[in-house]
Amino acid sequence: MASIVSFVGAGPGADDLITIRGARLLRHADVVVFAGSLVDRQLVARYATSADVYDSAGMTLPEVVEVMANAALAGKNVVRLHTGDPSIYGAIQEQMEALDGLGLEYTVVPGVTSAFAAAAALKQELTLPEVSQTVIFTRIEGRTPVPENEQLHRIAAIGATLVIYLSVGMIAKVVEQLLQGAYTPETAAAVVCRASWDDEQILRGSLADIAAAVLDAGIDRQALIIVGDVLAARREGLKAKSLLYDGGFAHGFRGVAT
Ligand SMILES: C[S@@+](CC[C@H](N)C(=O)[O-])C[C@H]1O[C@@H](n2cnc3c(N)ncnc32)[C@H](O)[C@@H]1O
Repeated sequence: MASIVSFVGAGPGADDLITIRGARLLRHADVVVFAGSLVDRQLVARYATSADVYDSAGMTLPEVVEVMANAALAGKNVVRLHTGDPSIYGAIQEQMEALDGLGLEYTVVPGVTSAFAAAAALKQELTLPEVSQTVIFTRIEGRTPVPENEQLHRIAAIGATLVIYLSVGMIAKVVEQLLQGAYTPETAAAVVCRASWDDEQILRGSLADIAAAVLDAGIDRQALIIVGDVLAARREGLKAKSLLYDGGFAHGFRGVAT
């Protein structure tokens, strides 16, 4: 009988930021197809000690599907390992569609997306009372088109906290588009490269200087751009504290403090 293919999020890089479920599936895997351009081969080696391992970086979609399908049909445990969380720019939908077409079953195991590893690296809450209660994960248009109503200059009109994937190589264009919206040259910005890896790099600044800092540092990939007033709270102090721990605010788990 065919086995179930598991799409697993490897987390942002550090090999102990994969979920316990993901690590367990890797330990029992017979075949692992991992996204070698972003997932550390050592993470694969640490957990998948007895699997046949394929690096999908040099493979096409049909080749990836063929490896997974043949192994699943032979009853083998198959893990398709993606960086971060597979649902964010993971290109898993087309793989799942192909498995659907073959009548094969699969499951998806979430992972820590790099946005949250970057926020942790910055020691930064992305949602702050009276500053921003919205986080947008987005990207600038590159070779992959972005729908017209999601162009960065239109998203920028909202003024929320932005986490921008896949765009650091076009940082000057990113800044230009953000300045057409609610942000100003003074708006705080940060870039986190290889969050959670040993060689993680953090740049902090504003929209006025972040592009030059990125060019100086030679960062052109595997980085996130984070933009928004929440980042200024570290240097300027909080505007307001959360109601959650406010003694005058009762909720289902606590009455008003006396
Ligand atoms: C194809 S997307 C995959 C995103 C992934 N699924 C996730 O949840 O993080 C690759 C982009 O994610 C971001 N990225 C992935 N890992 C990262 C890390 N450790 N640090 C910073 N950015 C990272 C970069 O913007 C990179 O260009």
